[in-house]
Amino acid sequence: MAHLRASGERYQKPLDAALEFIVMNYDAYRIPELREMAKELGVADIAEVVLSHPHFGVWTASNNISKHHYGKGGLQHHTWEVCKLCLETAKFHSTISKEPIDLKILFLGALFHDVGKIWDYEPYTYRFDEESQGTVPDKPSQEPITNTTEWWGTQHRRKIHHISRSASVWQKAVAECTSYLSIEDDVLHCILSHHGLREWGSPVMPKTREAWILHHCDSLSARMNDCDSWDQTTKK
Ligand SMILES: [Fe+2]
Ligand SMILES: [Fe+2]
Repeated sequence: MAHLRASGERYQKPLDAALEFIVMNYDAYRIPELREMAKELGVADIAEVVLSHPHFGVWTASNNISKHHYGKGGLQHHTWEVCKLCLETAKFHSTISKEPIDLKILFLGALFHDVGKIWDYEPYTYRFDEESQGTVPDKPSQEPITNTTEWWGTQHRRKIHHISRSASVWQKAVAECTSYLSIEDDVLHCILSHHGLREWGSPVMPKTREAWILHHCDSLSARMNDCDSWDQTTKK
């Protein structure tokens, strides 16, 4: 039988074809495009804190196939979608808005908004258990991350949560790149308010144009991805 393996040997639990298709979607590697966007906006140096993080390119954005951008590469793909949507929305609204929309603040808020999810989720593998003669979840495994790696929530998610961690990553980045001190709190506000409501995990509601755009583009990216998942996992 396929599941019979030597005790302790790790292997990936197979996903069915439909689920594999969903995670395969994130194989589009968007970091070079994000790096180009950062360069054009003149924020390439501080953007590298996210873009060069060893986990950012492969991490998931959720711990459940039914939640948005689950699977290998989900985080970088969601972040790319949000950055693109934010800049497109700002382009439209800048033609009718009474005050300018700051693209640096908006882009950096979008780039850093979910980076804390690297601490919220971790990859799991499975091993064969002699006693139960079945597969059981093994301890968290950082390597190798594949399209069928499963992702679970961490204690960090319960105790800290990615919004707080993303804010902390941003503030540490500014401490290193002090030329961003003048926009530190504006980007921080975008990160802290991106879930929109206190009951959805944000300590403050959006109060600026940049923060409102980020909140709605984040939500749009998530809900559109939900539709993709539902189409793949439900019979029409
Ligand atoms: Fe978030
Ligand atoms: Fe997000």
